[in-house]
Amino acid sequence: MISAKKFQDLIKTKCHNETEYWENVVTPILSRLGVPKGPHIRRREFPITTHWGDRKADWLIFIENRPMLVIEAKLSEADFEKAKADAKIFAVNFNPKKHEDRKTIGEIRAIPYIFTPCGTRLTMFKLTILEDGITSDLQPLEGLLTYAELKQIAEKSIKPTGTKPLERNLLSTSQFRINFEEISEIIEARISKTKVVSAAIKDSVVLILNEILLASFQKQDGGSIYKKYKLAKKEVKHIEIVLNRYDLSQIEGPDLAYAYRDFVTRNFTGTTPKWAGEEEKKIGRYLTPAPVIKFMVELCNPTPKDKVIDFACGSGGFLGAIASRMISRVDITKYLFEKLFACDVDIFSVSTAQTFMELLLPGKQTLAQIFDESFYVTSLKKGSQITFDDVHPELGISGHPRLGFQAAKREGILNIFHHNGLFSEKIQSWEYDLSSIIPEQSFDLVISNPPGGTDYNLGHEDELKALFPLEGSRKKLQNAPLFIQRAIRLAKNGGKICLIVPDGILANIQLQYLQEHIFSACQVKAIISLPRGIFPNVPSKMSILYMIKTERPSLKKPIFMASIEVGEETDLESELKKILKSYKKFK
Ligand SMILES: C[S@@+](CC[C@H](N)C(=O)[O-])C[C@H]1O[C@@H](n2cnc3c(N)ncnc32)[C@H](O)[C@@H]1O
Repeated sequence: MISAKKFQDLIKTKCHNETEYWENVVTPILSRLGVPKGPHIRRREFPITTHWGDRKADWLIFIENRPMLVIEAKLSEADFEKAKADAKIFAVNFNPKKHEDRKTIGEIRAIPYIFTPCGTRLTMFKLTILEDGITSDLQPLEGLLTYAELKQIAEKSIKPTGTKPLERNLLSTSQFRINFEEISEIIEARISKTKVVSAAIKDSVVLILNEILLASFQKQDGGSIYKKYKLAKKEVKHIEIVLNRYDLSQIEGPDLAYAYRDFVTRNFTGTTPKWAGEEEKKIGRYLTPAPVIKFMVELCNPTPKDKVIDFACGSGGFLGAIASRMISRVDITKYLFEKLFACDVDIFSVSTAQTFMELLLPGKQTLAQIFDESFYVTSLKKGSQITFDDVHPELGISGHPRLGFQAAKREGILNIFHHNGLFSEKIQSWEYDLSSIIPEQSFDLVISNPPGGTDYNLGHEDELKALFPLEGSRKKLQNAPLFIQRAIRLAKNGGKICLIVPDGILANIQLQYLQEHIFSACQVKAIISLPRGIFPNVPSKMSILYMIKTERPSLKKPIFMASIEVGEETDLESELKKILKSYKKFK
């Protein structure tokens, strides 16, 4: 490693624009670091696809077709943070735009080193993908790595034959994402030829992708699925090639599972399903950030004996975190069947959570519900147009898509249900009666990030008002109060409740009835206010509300309160770690 000080003479060179900076500073630095010239080693303006569109990385340095260093340079030191942020995006989500580049590189991984020369500031960073497979971390190096050192590192981590990465932290989720993308493109091209309205295409792509992935991971023949979706021979062949690209049994469950969740939630979710238009506010389909999930699970500290439910499970973030925590302590198949329960009103979310859990714990479960019939098939049959109503359970359409109960014995079943989380009875035609599977007063832990403060009634306001008499006289129902009441009902005495709720819940004067209810049924243990903006497009601030259901709550006991404010540099994960530490002391 060479100290940055050794380049003092170069950085003093006066440069008037970026090109001059490149020529007079960056290029000579690369030469002194021993980086050979040549298109196979230095690639300038390398095209990369990101979630924000196509971009170009200033420079990539390759070692035997493997990008080891990404360089983002700026003329001014003031742009250092921007250069670092850009380089990090390129490195973590490394995804070459051009087909020929993907082909040459072969196995796509994150780029392990970053160099951000900006004005007189020269820093290299090492990138680490943390254990959850999605959170990344940049550590500054003490000096600049030479090409020979990079080569040594690369040689140590490239294993020519296997698919299992030797250095786990160098594995990129991008490689898996590219595979998912490739299959999605084939499906999308097929559906686009039918009469499904364009707004519903994105969702149907994921539903079909999920079916194909599940069959593949469960080592079932995909034939009936391909037939059902009328995929042509050529398309099937292409999908099979992608699926067979890796020996999946060689890949660690979490890497693949989190890459999948990341891919689906980034591409197909948002506050608004893209196709929802005016109805957008009704379902908040967005991901709970991984550090928040981790924090909440650690705060509640569930044991293998605890029966747990997430009644608005989305992509299954909480289920994954809890199952991963239990895996070394219990017979996980038995645990999943007996202890872990979830539901979501959105079929897209249910199917995604099912697939995510299957990838995380391959072969450990059977699904409680599987597709009975798909709306896409229906549309082909009828030759009719599919509308928003057809795909959205919210409007009470009975038919499609529909998840049916597995007739098989209920042993080892993964309890993720397509059901409204606010009740267990069958109210909508697409629901099943879950009263015996999800009874009230029976859970040791209710943990969830239910939909936020927007008004909605899911088309059955009257039923909900009857079920929640506290709401009776209120004109408009709101999500958060209903979900809080439901959580209290689901928990047994002594059961823990940990929810993400809008910040104002405990302060808003109009919600006094709810506050009284909470404080008469629960001992509130902690309220942690999260920084604005951690949920994209959600303007309101959110808090974690942690409480224990009890018959005799005391108003005298102190409540742990904390708030995280974000500045540019705030690292949510480390802030939450500090809070957890303080909470443990406080207890
Ligand atoms: C913020 S997301 C949950 C994200 C989830 N924790 C994750 O990690 O992906 C809220 C979820 O609530 C679901 N939802 C909305 N209304 C619901 C209802 N009445 N019953 C059950 N789920 C509902 C949405 O479909 C969405 O998946």
